[in-house]
Amino acid sequence: MKKIILASNNKGKIREFNAMLSDIYEVVSMSDMGVEEVPEIGLTFVENALIKARNASAQSGLPALADDSGIVVDALNGEPGIYSARYAGNHGDDEANTQKILDEMANVPDTQRSARFWCAIVFVEHANDPTPIIVQRGWEGEILRKKTGKNGFGYDPIFHVPTHGCASAELAPEIKNAISHRGQALDALLKELKS
Ligand code: IMP
Repeated sequence: MKKIILASNNKGKIREFNAMLSDIYEVVSMSDMGVEEVPEIGLTFVENALIKARNASAQSGLPALADDSGIVVDALNGEPGIYSARYAGNHGDDEANTQKILDEMANVPDTQRSARFWCAIVFVEHANDPTPIIVQRGWEGEILRKKTGKNGFGYDPIFHVPTHGCASAELAPEIKNAISHRGQALDALLKELKS
């Protein structure tokens, strides 16, 4: 089985990608291959995913995949966007990040609370691949006025999903995975890789 590196050490992500790609690739992590992280200096999800994929491929000699995701809030001019994981300052502080959005949106009317989760996934055959596969998908919703639900992570408790009439954090994981930005992007990537 051909190996591919996913530019992540997140065990959940490695498992998810392995399950999706199991008939084409064995997915290994950065730590499996001794790959060091690279600064994410891009200004878009795609640029950062490309930076991470190229770095992982260059250091491991394997084809590479990388994803980059976050939430884009229209009333905040697209913030927190690529800075979603560290919006309130500390990387991965979900509690502070969600509270910061709620505070900044306190006076924004119901009609102007649109937002979307965004996910970019990049595949490179090798570090200098001039024709990377790039897929991007969004998941439309609105910012709630208070945290709701216990499932998921990150901004799920403040993201209203109009198609299901509930917060993302109230969706069962298998439902969220089937309709989310990441689920849609993974499906699209799989189709591209197989064609
Ligand atoms: P990364 O793609 O792991 O860098 O994720 C960036 C950040 O975006 C995460 O730390 C979360 O705050 C946010 N995020 C991305 N996807 C989701 C999601 O499905 N639910 C909630 N928050 C998310």
